Amino acid sequence: MSSIDCTRLAPLVRGLCVGVSQQSRVVISGSIGKAVSSQVLTVELGSALKEDRLDEEAAALVLQEAYAAWEFEMAPSGAEAITQKATVEKYPACIVIHIKDNPEVVFWIDRDLDTVRKRAEQEDISVLEERIPQNDGLSDPRSNAKSRGEVVKNKIALVTGGAQGFGEEIARALAVSGALVFIADLNLDGAEKLAARINAAEKRTAALAVAVNVADEASVEGMFRRVVETAGGLDLCISNAGVLKAASLLEQDLGSFKFVTDVNYTGFFLISKYAGRLLRLQYRTAPSWKTDIIQINSKSGLEGSNKNGAYAGGKFGGLGLTESFALELVEYNIKVNAICPGNFFDGPLWSDPEKGLFVQYLRAGKVPGARTIEDVKTFYESKVPMKRGCTGPDVMRAIYYIVEQEYETGQAVPVTGGQVMLH
Ligand SMILES: NC(=O)c1ccc[n+]([C@@H]2O[C@H](COP(=O)([O-])OP(=O)(O)OC[C@H]3O[C@@H](n4cnc5c(N)ncnc54)[C@H](O)[C@@H]3O)[C@@H](O)[C@H]2O)c1
Repeated sequence: MSSIDCTRLAPLVRGLCVGVSQQSRVVISGSIGKAVSSQVLTVELGSALKEDRLDEEAAALVLQEAYAAWEFEMAPSGAEAITQKATVEKYPACIVIHIKDNPEVVFWIDRDLDTVRKRAEQEDISVLEERIPQNDGLSDPRSNAKSRGEVVKNKIALVTGGAQGFGEEIARALAVSGALVFIADLNLDGAEKLAARINAAEKRTAALAVAVNVADEASVEGMFRRVVETAGGLDLCISNAGVLKAASLLEQDLGSFKFVTDVNYTGFFLISKYAGRLLRLQYRTAPSWKTDIIQINSKSGLEGSNKNGAYAGGKFGGLGLTESFALELVEYNIKVNAICPGNFFDGPLWSDPEKGLFVQYLRAGKVPGARTIEDVKTFYESKVPMKRGCTGPDVMRAIYYIVEQEYETGQAVPVTGGQVMLH
């Protein structure tokens, strides 16, 4: 039956395991040759078919009920289940799904991509366990803040425009913090090279390249399909890809205005639409698991930018989208926030020796008296109260804050060294 789309099943299965373990999990589809024992969760999903299409809410309910019945059989109970103020939750590493006359679908689950691939290869059906700390009501909630990088450990993240600039900084930092990162970029070659460097440094599959044009709907949809096929779902989506074509209002042609708007504004809409659909699917089986969509906006989303209207306009609009999407997606425990960085002077946009903004401004004589690139840089740095440009680590602190913060959505977090402040 062609209407059963496996890429809609994987996030539901992933949500189920994430909901039980309260940890991010990687889910891949595979097969099982050995006899299925009671360690495997077998689910008959036929009743979730409505007019030959999978009803996601009904499917989530069937999965949760099947797990509850399996859990009853497998999990320890009473005093045995509670050890040292932690409940031991058991859940299957292999789930087999039957849907009427369709071939069975087999999913393998584990905490990271390398382990789950090995598990599927070896057909290791041994049950997974997670110790869930019990809240005894005595712990001080103020001491609950996690160390920054911990908040993304083992999570699955995607960064658009991840091949260079801020996106590269974010992808690298997330990988170092223990996340699995999809580096999504128009420049697939650059994304692949970066992923290879990250994986060599991390000695694990920490990054994967995926091609996307964020301004093209079919491309965005295909990218999220690839993510689900590879890892089962997502926890954190960072919409970072952006372009800049500075021009006077009186001179700019419509084509270049539309190009900037398509990538920076429409691109964020498309990324949020398909990320939102995927995260909502996971929510169906993991209703208490919070996920994030973060737009890398700009200080130009907070304050106009002379002869740069297409860019600033799209970034202002991005904050309107952020607030609106946040209101709609809060129902599914999806937070939507934006980060508004100041200028990344050390990144390629400014510092590229041939086409960077510093060299362009030097050639154009935009900074009176400037003779070298250093002079131009000093001029721009002096505009920042903190006297330096924004860096990757500055943006990462904002990302970790947003992911950790459970009680905020629809916000713009400025990271501008004091150059632009909220009104
Ligand atoms: N550089 C800055 O000073 C600065 C300051 C504030 C905000 N920002 C924002 O940070 C984000 C990243 O900027 P950057 O300076 O690192 O940019 P960059 O030009 O260095 O890198 C952008 C990346 O996005 C990719 N990309 C471009 N168009 C794409 C598309 N249609 N689909 C997929 N990928 C695409 C490029 O291939 C590139 O890898 C942007 O949203 C930008 O507006 C940058």
